[in-house]
Amino acid sequence: MIGSHNYFTSSIGKKQIMALTGFGLVGFTLSHLLGNLLIFLGPDAFNFYAYKLTSNPLIYVAEAGLLGMFLLHICLAVILKLQNMAARPHGYYVKNRTGRGETIASATMPYTGLILLVFIIIHLLNFKFGSNYPTTVDGVQMRDLYRTVVEYFANPLYVVWYVFAMLALGLHTSHGFQSMFQSWGINHSKYTPIIQAASLAYGVVVAFGFSALAIFCHFQN
Ligand code: HEM
Repeated sequence: MIGSHNYFTSSIGKKQIMALTGFGLVGFTLSHLLGNLLIFLGPDAFNFYAYKLTSNPLIYVAEAGLLGMFLLHICLAVILKLQNMAARPHGYYVKNRTGRGETIASATMPYTGLILLVFIIIHLLNFKFGSNYPTTVDGVQMRDLYRTVVEYFANPLYVVWYVFAMLALGLHTSHGFQSMFQSWGINHSKYTPIIQAASLAYGVVVAFGFSALAIFCHFQN
């Protein structure tokens, strides 16, 4: 049996925690997409939703949890990558020779992950900590986030950057989603193909959904 100390230092322990934090991030991303779809309904619907969300005191707990998951996910990814490289100095050679199930998505995980890290930092600076216009919906004063978002996407270069980053997101999550199940030892001849299909569908939905929003916002200017 594996002790708790060994669990966290073992490679499988790290992979399972990466899978758990990845699961949380995948859940956040889907709920963020669903909430953002209110942009299609216009300023009042979106601003009111964002107001309700941010005026709930539990938001601070959710944000702390999200940040924690994000940092843990990145730190473990870097540690696992370094350990992997140290254990296999000729990693690429060995990997190509065995050639087990490498896909574009799995081979590019570190690169798409890095793009997402850069994306998140820029995203938070532009939106969460971006321009703060006031508006009133049903007599309640709140932040006009709709205007902040629409103004940002007036620049076509930002739309292109978002679509590029969303492709990275789609690739990263479409591999990450299915590998979560592998890390937890769920490997079944009947269910694994279904998990793989669901994983691909998830990646396509988030990539297209967020990209469509950025393009839509561009044309609201
Ligand atoms: C067209 C695409 C997107 C739009 C229009 C959008 C919009 C927004 C807005 C307006 C906020 C600020 C919310 C506030 O301060 O109340 C926000 C926050 C955030 N967004 Fe996005 N977002 C997009 C894509 C993404 C993607 C793809 C991710 C990550 C996978 C992401 C992650 C986050 C995070 C982590 C926050 C901070 C949440 C918090 O502090 O509570 N966003 N987004």
